[in-house]
Formats: sequence, C-alpha cells, structure tokens
Amino acid sequence: ESGKLWGGRFVGAVDPIMEKFNSSITYDQHLWEVDVQGSKAYSRGLQKAGILTKTEMDQILQGLDKVAEEWAQGTFKLNPNDEDIHTANERRLKELIGETAGKLHTGRSRNDQVVTDLRLWMRQNCSTLSALLRELIRTMVDRAEAERDILFPGYTHLQRAQPIRWSHWILSHAVALTRDSERLLEVQKRINVLPLGSGAIAGNPLGVDRELLRAELNFGAITLNSMDATSERDFVGESWALARPPSRASPLQCVLPLSPRPASSPASYHPHMAHRTFSRLGEGQGLVTRQPALPLLPQAEFLFWASLCMTHLSRMAEDLILYGTKEFNLVQLSDAYSTGSSLMPQKKNPDSLELIRSKAGRVFGRCAGLLMTLKGLPSTYNKDLQEDKEAVFEVSNTMSAVIQVATGVISTLQIHRENMARALSPDMLATDLAYYLVRKGMPFRQAHEASGKAVFMAETKGVALNQLSLQELQTISPLFSGDVSHVWDYGHSVEQYAALGGTARSSVDWQIGQVRALLGAQ
Ligand code: ARG
Repeated sequence: ESGKLWGGRFVGAVDPIMEKFNSSITYDQHLWEVDVQGSKAYSRGLQKAGILTKTEMDQILQGLDKVAEEWAQGTFKLNPNDEDIHTANERRLKELIGETAGKLHTGRSRNDQVVTDLRLWMRQNCSTLSALLRELIRTMVDRAEAERDILFPGYTHLQRAQPIRWSHWILSHAVALTRDSERLLEVQKRINVLPLGSGAIAGNPLGVDRELLRAELNFGAITLNSMDATSERDFVGESWALARPPSRASPLQCVLPLSPRPASSPASYHPHMAHRTFSRLGEGQGLVTRQPALPLLPQAEFLFWASLCMTHLSRMAEDLILYGTKEFNLVQLSDAYSTGSSLMPQKKNPDSLELIRSKAGRVFGRCAGLLMTLKGLPSTYNKDLQEDKEAVFEVSNTMSAVIQVATGVISTLQIHRENMARALSPDMLATDLAYYLVRKGMPFRQAHEASGKAVFMAETKGVALNQLSLQELQTISPLFSGDVSHVWDYGHSVEQYAALGGTARSSVDWQIGQVRALLGAQ
C-alpha cells in the first residue's frame, strides 16, 4: 500500500522532490478547523442519505472532534504521507476510529472539500478584517471630530492649493476606507456560498441533501453548478442560487496572529445587503435570489479588495510621511511607531508608514499572481488552484497587521498646530479673491484673470498678496473696495465651503455624521 488516498492504481513510488513539490500541508494546515467542520457536516449529510448508520456517523463525529482537539492542543502529528490538510485529517481519523473512517469521503472529492474549507476560512477572516477596518475608521473619525477647528494647507500637485480643515484631510481618507469596508462585506457575501456536494466535477450521486449541508455550515446560498463550484468558483454571467438567511453563528476562529480580539458574527451581513437578498424571510423559508454577475472568483475578489484598500492606506501613509518631514513639520509620529538609525543618532524614521506603503506592493503582487495562475486554466479543477491559499493567507495576515498599525499610528499621531497655522499663506486665498469679485457681479473667468494679476503684482513687488493696498487692487478692478480685507481671513475662507462635502465646519460635521452612520449600519 502506498499510504496515499489515491494509491490503488499506482505501482511506482513518487520522487521525493515531487512529493515535496506537490504537498500543501505546510500552509493549508491553517484550515484544520474548517476542514473538520466541513467533514462533520458532510457525515451528517451521508447519514441522512443512508450511507452511514447513526452509529457510524457518531463514531466519525467523535473521531473528528478528537482530531480537532489534537490540532487545538498542538499534539497532531503530521506524517510524511500527509499531502494536505484533507489527507492528514482523514488519515488520523482512520487511526482513531478504524475502517469506518473510509466511508466519510463517499461522494466527496478534495475538489469540493478544499473550496468549502477555504470559503469557511475566508468568511470568518473577512469578519475579523472588517472589525479591524471599522475600528481604524472610527479612530479617524474621532480624531476628525476632536480636531475640526484646526486649519492647514490643502495641496494639489503637492503645491499649496487652498486652506482646509485638518479634519477634512482625515475624513478624505476615512471616506475611502468606508468604501473598502462596504466592499469587504459584499465580498464576504459572495464567499458565503456552499460548494460541498459538488464532488470532483459531476456532482453528488448519493442524493446528499445540500440544503442540509448549507444549514449545517451556515452558508447563505448553494453553488449552482458542480463544475463551476469546484474550479472557477466565480459568478460570471447571471446565476441563480437558493438563498436563505444565516441562522446561527459559526464557532470558527481565524488564524490571524496580530488580531487582538475575537471576531464578531462570522457571516455578518451588511444590513442593506441582507435586506436586498433576504428581505422578510423567516427562518427556514427559501427563496430564489438573483445573484449579480461577477467576473471574479471570491479569492481573486478578496485579493482585489485588499489591493484597493492598500492603495488607500498607502496614499495616507505617504501623506503622513511627507507631513512628518522637518520641511513640512506638520505632524510627528509617536515613538511607538518609529524607529531610529544605527548610525545617525538624531534620526527618527517613519518605518510603520513606510511598511504600510510597501506592503501595498506585496498585496498587489499576490493579486496579479493569482489572476495569472487562473488565466487560461482549462475547465474544472487543476492543481494550479492549490496556489490560491498562500495568497489568501499571506494577504489576510498582511491586511490584519497593516490595519492595526495604521490604527495605532493615527491614534497616537501628534500634530503641530502652530506649524499648521503658520504654513498657511495669503496666496492660498487667491481663489477666494476671485470669488470676492464674483460676488460683486464679475464673471468668474474675468475674476480669475483679475486675481491672477493681483498675484503677479504682489510677486513683482515682493510682497504678500494681502499686502497690496486697496488702490493697487483697484488698478486691476474698480470692484475692489474696503471689504476685501475679509478675504484675508483663513477661518472665513474655509467657512465659505459649506456645500455638502466641503471643508466648512457644518459640512465636516455632516461628513462625520455620515461616516458614523455608515459604520453603525454595517
Ligand atoms: N491540496 C489541494 C488544493 O489545495 C486539494 C485538492 C486536491 N485535489 C486533487 N484532485 N488533487 O487544491
């Protein structure tokens, strides 16, 4: 006997290098808990289908609990023939309960098993990341609320543009992250579809009740096509799925070393998504739901979600790195998130922010890598698909770390209020000078021209824009009068931008309220 699950038709031994090359156990052992969970549900399905007696099922369930206990206690011993987590768990089950273990895999393939495991793992992981991301956004909004009266320069092209509230800058990043948070919940919803019962390619021949499996594993819906379910795992085109509301919390835990707190409810639905898909459904009622067309499989979609989120975090990090230089000197990173130089004693480097910036590259690489692996794969399961797991695990761990570090950075960041105030200069009010003329009736194009002339005049005379005399301004336009002095007030400037979304206090308050409401609704 070869000791392999698939050994029957083999005579020759596998080359040890091939054995190692083929094996995924070093990383897919992260899936031990969900693998046991999937097997327990499947054995219940087999019993209902008449393949297992009640006694056999109980034997398998107890054996699987023992396997899980060994993993949890760190006493599970891998042996060299354990190709992946699925083979390892089944091998151990057989050692524990004997030949009955051999009935568990009836009608099941590792093809539907692995993707079920990964979906269970990712579903839980999305809840963990979602809680961390919401905490980051909350931290940012709290800061924005506390510091909303502080003004500083807003930049476009990295050139001084217009005075804005510091809170407006914070919220600009928080709002982007709020979209990521919404997107993650939608990704999670599409992950939450049961593939088990699809077999290797053709489906399940034993009449296994997939609705029972769905309910056991608390999935929101059931995959429609066994070929699709085991390989592409995507929702290309319009598809229909039997959907039900999630009924109970799953006990799964995620493998995320940096995560400080237990995750919230696993299949936590965005209320408006729940409303859309499951509105007014009672427990146990089914309905056919139209799934949106989606050209991505959940793994790829998750990696894309992470890439976009990292783009936002990386841009925020870049701003803060810049604002923290002595040249800008607007903010100072706390010691807790900085490091020093082994050579230059004065140095305090923003390594936390630089690493956030750089991890974006790693995440994009994983996303691009998986898409390249998928492109051109022939139909149904191919071993190439084994490569999805390292990407998902690595990106999950990276996102968990990055989001937690970003939360720490933002909550401990010092701001230099006086420098922020000093950094404002009258030339940043040139736009407001044009608006002054607009309010006196001048068409904006002419007003822009007139204000530009004032800027040029001030530059030529070597004075600040607000140092031009009324007479000098009147040589540019007779519409200038004594009240032009109001333009040179930064507080007055920002308050003009009161339309929703602007930098006026009322609008910043509105933004804070909106982001908080979105967080509350998730
Ligand atoms: N370790 C494999 C993976 O991660 C499990 C599925 C293997 N299936 C197969 N038919 N070789 O994809």
